[in-house]
Amino acid sequence: MEKSTPKIAVFISGTGTNLQALIDARNKKKLEAELALVVSSSPSALGLSKAEQAGIPTFFFQERDYPSKQEAAKVLLEKLKEDQIDFIALAGYLKLIAPEIISAYPDRIINIHPALLPKYGGRGMYGVHVHEAVIAAHEKESGLTIHLVDEKYDHGRILKQIKVPVYDDDTPGLLQQRIQKEEHKHYPIVLNKFIKGKV
Ligand code: GRF
Repeated sequence: MEKSTPKIAVFISGTGTNLQALIDARNKKKLEAELALVVSSSPSALGLSKAEQAGIPTFFFQERDYPSKQEAAKVLLEKLKEDQIDFIALAGYLKLIAPEIISAYPDRIINIHPALLPKYGGRGMYGVHVHEAVIAAHEKESGLTIHLVDEKYDHGRILKQIKVPVYDDDTPGLLQQRIQKEEHKHYPIVLNKFIKGKV
């Protein structure tokens, strides 16, 4: 029997340029999966319009809209199950993933982080703050990390790291752009291997 196409939910909070890279890879059949759902923690995330343009259903999910964290996790899990989601790819999602979701998707959730973890990860280390910290510490290199997701921020097993140089006259914005270019190239490749159990 032919194996059905895996279904991926992409979780975002912001611009969604990595989401767009995944959409482009799917269109070119380099990502052999269905992008079945985009979950956003913000109602105004720019990434939502990218999802809509690509015809991907969206789901706005904000923990504080529910009476408890457990109740919120239950609603999100029901949605993921209803849509028969097999894997979750975090792409700029700023919230912690609830333990209930992690146990329902063991080793099936990945994240991309714009630094060489374990350095420059954890609470508060997101967006331009990461690159500001890297430059302030006079690092000679930074990069990206793609890793499994567990109950701590930026913590699970590392699947792939790509290094990027940091220049003496760098600005956080320039470094961010240099890293994002690599993110857009590598996230679809790693995700495609990940869903096939090859990474
Ligand atoms: C990326 O740099 C990613 O590494 C981090 O958040 C950023 C998201 O950017 N987790 P975008 O929303 O994909 O443009």
